[in-house]
Amino acid sequence: MAQNGSHPVWWKDAVIYQVYPRSFADSNGDGIGDLPGIIDHLPYLEKLGVDALWISPCFQSPQGDAGYDISDYRKIDPLFGTVDDYETLIRDAHEHGLRIIADMVPNHTSDQHVWFKEAMASEPGSTSRARYIFRDGKGEQGNEPPNNWKSVFGGSAWTREAERQDGKSRQWYLHLFDSCQPDLNWDNPEVRTEFESVLRFWLDRGVDGFRIDVAHGLIKEKGLPPCTERATMVGEDDDKTPSDAPMWDRDGVHEIYRSWHRLLASYPGDRMLVAEAWVKPLSRLARYVRPDEMQQTFNFDYLLCRWNADKYRKIITDSLKAMHEVGATTAWVMSNHDSVRHASRLGLKDAGARPQGIDAAHEQPDEALGLRRARAVIFMTLGLPGSVTLYQGEELGLPDHTTLDRKYRQDPAFFRTDGEEIGRDGCRIPMPWSDKGPSLGFNDTGELWLPQPAQYKNYAVSVEEKDPDSTLALYRALLAARKKHGLGTGALHWAEPRDHVVEFLNSGIRVVLNCGDKPISLPDGKILLSSLPMEEPGQLPANAAVWMTETTD
Ligand code: GLC
Ligand code: CA
Repeated sequence: MAQNGSHPVWWKDAVIYQVYPRSFADSNGDGIGDLPGIIDHLPYLEKLGVDALWISPCFQSPQGDAGYDISDYRKIDPLFGTVDDYETLIRDAHEHGLRIIADMVPNHTSDQHVWFKEAMASEPGSTSRARYIFRDGKGEQGNEPPNNWKSVFGGSAWTREAERQDGKSRQWYLHLFDSCQPDLNWDNPEVRTEFESVLRFWLDRGVDGFRIDVAHGLIKEKGLPPCTERATMVGEDDDKTPSDAPMWDRDGVHEIYRSWHRLLASYPGDRMLVAEAWVKPLSRLARYVRPDEMQQTFNFDYLLCRWNADKYRKIITDSLKAMHEVGATTAWVMSNHDSVRHASRLGLKDAGARPQGIDAAHEQPDEALGLRRARAVIFMTLGLPGSVTLYQGEELGLPDHTTLDRKYRQDPAFFRTDGEEIGRDGCRIPMPWSDKGPSLGFNDTGELWLPQPAQYKNYAVSVEEKDPDSTLALYRALLAARKKHGLGTGALHWAEPRDHVVEFLNSGIRVVLNCGDKPISLPDGKILLSSLPMEEPGQLPANAAVWMTETTD
């Protein structure tokens, strides 16, 4: 087991389960999941066999971007509960052997944050405005935005303030995301001091770590030079580096993470930071997890990888190498609240592609094929050394809602692109806990902030709990075996490469994934777990995977 001094470091091989609170479980029937809902389901999560929960933001927020627009970092939004509930969650989770990772959003606040309200009410050039990024517009009347930067969600990254009462010129403020998410000015020491204090506030309450939202965005290039492309966060799997974009991955971000590293190190219990950094290439990503910075950074190259054995092998090899060079482990991930669920992506013709949402007008994924591949790919993911982050519902094999009507859409990206981008609602549908009831056990009232598709009934926890061949049963078995054999802290050894096959050894377990559409022969050994019933001895069907032990006994 990984050691820090004399004790094991829990996060190195941890399996982290992402809870998206508004869609996890709703205790009071208002249609939105909440903290008591999470607390009620801790036994389920313990039984699943994960080590930690990453809780997406539930801080006070007008919910302009589903909570990623925070108006008070020290309060819990009444939609989700109270600070007391959060403390109960931490305490109860710890009793169930689960750590809690909070989601911290330092790149921007809500436009309803007291700082931004003060800034809007104050003069250009004031200290209140210096906490954000205000600029005069271009052109004689200042009618043009200060530069050509585009928001990640579409449209300009600048919004002009409304008519001023004092008749002074109206400035523009920067928002890399929605206009309700003004970017903070991290060159301002006051911003740094405030966030250190916010981190302490939650560390004092016992959180075990933080996921850092948009970790690559905090520092902008001096002078805000023009940018040729839309500030998209998603690189395709072509290794193109966006590091010349003046808003991403500036060297200055690292000093911030060094200071947070020191802050966390002053607390007991191996607290950790995990970066959401859409950064390429891997050598740049690795800079976020140098020994004095964060502990982990999500591996989005892995999430973005197509269903292709050569590509998987390359990304795994390159990732392990890049992280090893800085002494870090890799944090594998396949789905999250910003991406079409992988069970759906793997059922597309371009299998594994990451569209910006799917609706009825788009190619519909092949649900059975997607599920079959999702059940197979988790053998590879959980077979790798390092840590793994699961997204709620993937343990059920949940697909996206791919036909959600436009009238239900809530993602700001949908509105800012005039519907050109469908957005992320399809992967944020409330969880099906039961095959009975109007909201499939999400609550008792049937209220739902987003409707569930009909087929979610078939994936309900109540159904899968009864079925020994369900995806849930498979995840439980894999997680238990991963722990038992110490795969998370093991080392990977490749087998001789074969077409369409990913095959490696880790801690006495042989992982074989068949990405092809024909059966392949398996080496000798005993099959420990398989993604499908094995029809012919010694043969691994198409789109399937096994874990084997090396011995034949
Ligand atoms: C991150 C979050 C995403 C959010 C954005 C702006 O990418 O994961 O959900 O919309 O940051 O905070
Ligand atoms: Ca609720």
